[in-house]
Amino acid sequence: MKRFEGKIIYITGGSSGIGLEMGRIFTGRGANLLLIARNEEKLGKARQTLEKFRRSPTQLIGTLSVDVSDINDVEQKMKAALDVYGAPDVLVLSAGINKYADHFENITPAMFDEVIKTNLYGPRNMIYTLLAAMKSRRSHIVILSSAAGLFGMFGYTAYGTSKAALLGLSDSLRYELKPLGMKLTVVCPPEVDTPMNLDEVKTLPKEGRAVKSLAGLLTPEYTAEGIVKAIAGGRYLFIPGAKTRLLYLAHCLSNGWLTRMTSDAVIRITCKRMGNKTAAGCSGHC
Ligand SMILES: NC(=O)c1ccc[n+]([C@@H]2O[C@H](COP(=O)([O-])OP(=O)(O)OC[C@H]3O[C@@H](n4cnc5c(N)ncnc54)[C@H](OP(=O)(O)O)[C@@H]3O)[C@@H](O)[C@H]2O)c1
Repeated sequence: MKRFEGKIIYITGGSSGIGLEMGRIFTGRGANLLLIARNEEKLGKARQTLEKFRRSPTQLIGTLSVDVSDINDVEQKMKAALDVYGAPDVLVLSAGINKYADHFENITPAMFDEVIKTNLYGPRNMIYTLLAAMKSRRSHIVILSSAAGLFGMFGYTAYGTSKAALLGLSDSLRYELKPLGMKLTVVCPPEVDTPMNLDEVKTLPKEGRAVKSLAGLLTPEYTAEGIVKAIAGGRYLFIPGAKTRLLYLAHCLSNGWLTRMTSDAVIRITCKRMGNKTAAGCSGHC
């Protein structure tokens, strides 16, 4: 899809961060948008922000409060959305949480489930509900995974599991969509400067922070521009940021050995600097 003018684009997580930034770009290119998230106040503010970028007075910029982790809510609200907006030409699945970046033993099963329900079942619920309607439009699905889905990371057992599972979903689903003339893009950004990181900072162990810094920090503007280009170019896997692309290449060529060795070294050095004291105690193997 080279041009977005007049296209219908649904964006989950459209009220904040990468989703909102993508909304800004699509609005500037004349698309009709439906921003989806839970908090109505945040959605209202996002809509006001996007109004400034509209190209024509007839362009739709709508919002809908949906909890993507709840299949009943998704089915009910998407039925109404299809009646009002029509099936999306592009479905961007950016809604996600990273609330429990912590030592595995501190992540209760309920916390772990919340991450999986939002980050994995959220996109599954949306695709499952909209696929039939999207087939006739040969739509494009965009799934926000993460660099944490490509590599294991300290403190990311819940989040990393959800994002790695999205890559599994994408790899299999792509084969089913291709014969239908539909496209899928899966995106694996490193750290992006968005409100998501304010949540994570409360619990992420220092070792995790140190390893994460290896891939660098991107702006939401740069990330969103790259994703929109990847959609326009019909790319499957898109990894924003040259550093992360290089790390992933080294990871694949060394069958994971190089990333494990580098991460182990960074974790060891961080532990030593902390005098081997962390919340869960990094005793023993450092
Ligand atoms: N920021 C990063 O460093 C980074 C790196 C790699 C990948 N990613 C991925 O990129 C995507 C966007 O992240 P971001 O940084 O833009 O996050 P963000 O600024 O925190 O935005 C998250 C969005 O998801 C919505 N959301 C969360 N739970 C939801 C639910 N159950 N139902 C509906 N909407 C929900 C939020 O709105 P409400 O809370 O109002 O629902 C918000 O609009 C996520 O999938 C994230 O995992 C982010």
